[in-house]
Amino acid sequence: MKIVKLDEIGRVDVQQYFEDVVVVPTETVYGLAARIDNEKALKNIFKIKGRPSDNPLIVHISDLDMLGGLVDGDVPAEYSALMDRFWPGPLTLVFKRRESVSKTVVGKSSIDTVAVRMPKGEKIRNLIRRLGVPLAIPSANTSGKPSPTRVEHVIDDLGEKVALYIDDGPCEIGLESTVFGIIDGNYVILRPGSVTKESIESVVGKKVLVKSKAENSEKLVCPGQKYRHYSPEHPVYLFTGSAWYQDMLKCGQALGNAKIGILRRRGLEYPTVFYKEYDLGESLQDCAQNTFSGLRFLDKTCDAIFVVGFALEDEGLAIMDKLEKAASYIIN
Ligand code: TXA
Ligand code: MG
Repeated sequence: MKIVKLDEIGRVDVQQYFEDVVVVPTETVYGLAARIDNEKALKNIFKIKGRPSDNPLIVHISDLDMLGGLVDGDVPAEYSALMDRFWPGPLTLVFKRRESVSKTVVGKSSIDTVAVRMPKGEKIRNLIRRLGVPLAIPSANTSGKPSPTRVEHVIDDLGEKVALYIDDGPCEIGLESTVFGIIDGNYVILRPGSVTKESIESVVGKKVLVKSKAENSEKLVCPGQKYRHYSPEHPVYLFTGSAWYQDMLKCGQALGNAKIGILRRRGLEYPTVFYKEYDLGESLQDCAQNTFSGLRFLDKTCDAIFVVGFALEDEGLAIMDKLEKAASYIIN
């Protein structure tokens, strides 16, 4: 395996490396990238991650002129407004797709849409520009594990299965992009992320629904919703009730000698039942950036992970989406 710094990518023969999959940094999380015209590499993504073949990949573009090759028909005015405001950045939009987009990218369920985003970093976009073709990039974790926000997390999960890792230090945002689409006339967030519901509503001027969990009766518009996500090896206890302090104390005592780790938000006082702490920081942005990293850190040395819930607004909505999916127990 080879690790190259993103700053040094100018000296690497990228065409040669993208004959197969490559680990790349983005502002949200690290991803496992393949050219969308390289079927062998695309299939390898599913194999290496252990990803179900019906879960589609997000296509990453460097410039707006790459959209034409992916999208069928006119771009809705609301999407144009969102692209003006949030691209390049952590917002993925679900478009009606061209017939020519690889079935491997859109998943075996053959949905008639394609999810596209333009990542924020100038250097990663330059890389895509040099390749001259969009990249399909899912998060670079083993399916079901917390997303990686540092290159070491990816190496822990994928090791020698990938030949080239591009390192750019810790991710700025730390949660995956917000996935948004207009589905049957409704404005829907299919996966909460750092672009908040409130900020999307302010741009489109309409009420936005959040549907990040699969509901059996409905047709699946976001296949990723039905799979288990973000789970460390050890159980996560999510405390959402107003009596969380007492609940934590009781649970801590009930777990006896277990080594309990806490994802600690600054400004809260916690009972002293903890073997190890991970500081999430104070602002919601800090907590978002550190959540996955903290889950992975505590999972290595603790038997159980405790965390207090966040209010379901602004970035708190996306953090709670990840924590609820990671949690074995929600205590409220
Ligand atoms: O921030 C991100 O989006 C990261 C970085 C690497 O860019 N990528 C990422 O990809 O999180 P992934 O594959 O881990 O998650 C993609 C999510 C899945 O839940 C998938 O089901 C959904 O997006 N998705 C992909 N294509 C879709 C489509 N056409 N319609 C609806 N949902 C789609
Ligand atoms: Mg993922």
